[in-house]
Formats: sequence, C-alpha cells, structure tokens
Amino acid sequence: MRIAVLGATGAVGRHVVQYALDADYEVVAYIRNASKMTVHHPDLLVVEGSLSDLARLEKALHDTVAVVSALGVSHRTPDKQPSQQLPVILEAMQKAGVSRYIGLSSGAAVNMPGDRKPLAAKIMGHILNTFRHTAVEDKKRELDTLCQQSTVTWTLARPTRLIGDTLSQGYRATAHRPRRLWTSRADVAHFLVQQVSDNQWDNQAPFIS
Ligand SMILES: NC(=O)c1ccc[n+]([C@@H]2O[C@H](COP(=O)([O-])OP(=O)(O)OC[C@H]3O[C@@H](n4cnc5c(N)ncnc54)[C@H](OP(=O)(O)O)[C@@H]3O)[C@@H](O)[C@H]2O)c1
Repeated sequence: MRIAVLGATGAVGRHVVQYALDADYEVVAYIRNASKMTVHHPDLLVVEGSLSDLARLEKALHDTVAVVSALGVSHRTPDKQPSQQLPVILEAMQKAGVSRYIGLSSGAAVNMPGDRKPLAAKIMGHILNTFRHTAVEDKKRELDTLCQQSTVTWTLARPTRLIGDTLSQGYRATAHRPRRLWTSRADVAHFLVQQVSDNQWDNQAPFIS
C-alpha cells in the first residue's frame, strides 16, 4: 500500500516517513524543497511541489490510500499557513480518490467538546496563543475545515508538548484528557502511521501522551 506524507522534511515528518517505510508502506513525500529530504529508500518517492499546485498534488496522490500530514507553520513562511492550503489538499484527495486524512494538531492550541484539560495544559494554550498566535489559528482552522467537510475521514493527533526523538511506544491516545503534558516526536509519528490501518479514531482528535 502507498501513502502520501506532507511535511516530510519536518522534525516529526521525518519520523513519519521512516515508520511508514518500516511498516512496509510505499511512501510519496510531497515537499516544497527536495534537497531537504534526508531519508533515502527504494520505496520512497520524493515529489517536489507546492501545496497550492492542485494538478501536481493530485497526480502525486494517485494510488495512495491515505494522506499523513505533519505540516506545521514555518517561521520562515508564516504567510503560507498549512491550513490555508487544506482546501486544495482535500480537493486533490477527492480527485485522486483518497478518503483518509491523518494530521498533526496541538493539544495545547485546540479544544474539543468534552475536553477536561489539566490546568497546566490550559496555561500552555494561553501562552501559545499569545506568542504563537499564527500557529494556534492554523491548527484551529485545520480542525474547522475538516469538521465542515464529508469528503474524507480524518484523525488529528493532539500532542501537548513534543520533546525528544525516542520511540517508546508507551504513549496512549485519550479522547478528552492527556495523561501527561509531553510525548516524543517519534511516538506521535508512530501514532500517525498506525492510523492508516486503524479506524478507532475516525473523525476524532485524541490527545497523544
Ligand atoms: N513543538 C511542539 O511542542 C508541538 C506540540 C504539539 C504540536 N506540534 C505541532 O507539530 C507540527 C510539526 O512540528 P515539527 O516540529 O515537525 O515542525 P517543523 O519541523 O517546523 O516541520 C514543519 C513541516 O511543514 C512544512 N511546511 C510548513 N509550511 C509549509 C507550506 N506552506 N508548504 C509546504 N510545506 C510546509 C515544512 O517544510 P519545509 O521543511 O520546506 O519548511 C516542514 O516539513 C506542527 O504543526 C506543530 O504545531 C508541535
């Protein structure tokens, strides 16, 4: 099976690519700068392109079963927020016949009905909203866009704080309250890849911790 990874050059995205390859998926990494790709593998196809290029993205998505997005607002290009590209991504998915979207949200930035966040997580959310307002808005817009459509089945992972790159596999997905305030980039990437073959969290955004 083949999956597409967006944000594959990022700190989490690199782990996503690696775990997907380890899980025997063929991977299409659709990225804006191919020279930044550090993973090399016979089952990895790197396609350079812009997220606003509908035709190119649609072509890259052909024969994939899911899109895994580890996109995040880049300090270098804050004007090009990933959530603003999401309508194009969804349109490309629809045209290519891909119905599964798995993304990386934020436990501090995003609230879901029924959440029982610990005080520390709420404080982190206020701090983020003050100092990284653009990134918070980006995550909220991504959720709103996904909730307002019915073309794809989605899952968003909500880690609170990402620390370290060690895979523990001791993380848990929990609907309304994180077990703790951090998880590793490797663990959240592992969760994202697991969702390709798991429908437990369809149209939900669990905390990962
Ligand atoms: N840090 C934390 O504690 C924490 C906690 C919870 C959630 N998160 C979320 O985790 C996500 C990923 O974090 P990270 O550390 O892996 O981020 P990162 O290293 O900055 O990677 C972001 C990725 O998104 C890509 N990207 C951004 N804007 C793009 C655009 N307009 N077009 C194409 N590609 C674009 C970047 O591509 P380039 O390489 O080309 O720039 C890069 O591959 C973020 O969304 C963040 O909000 C982080």
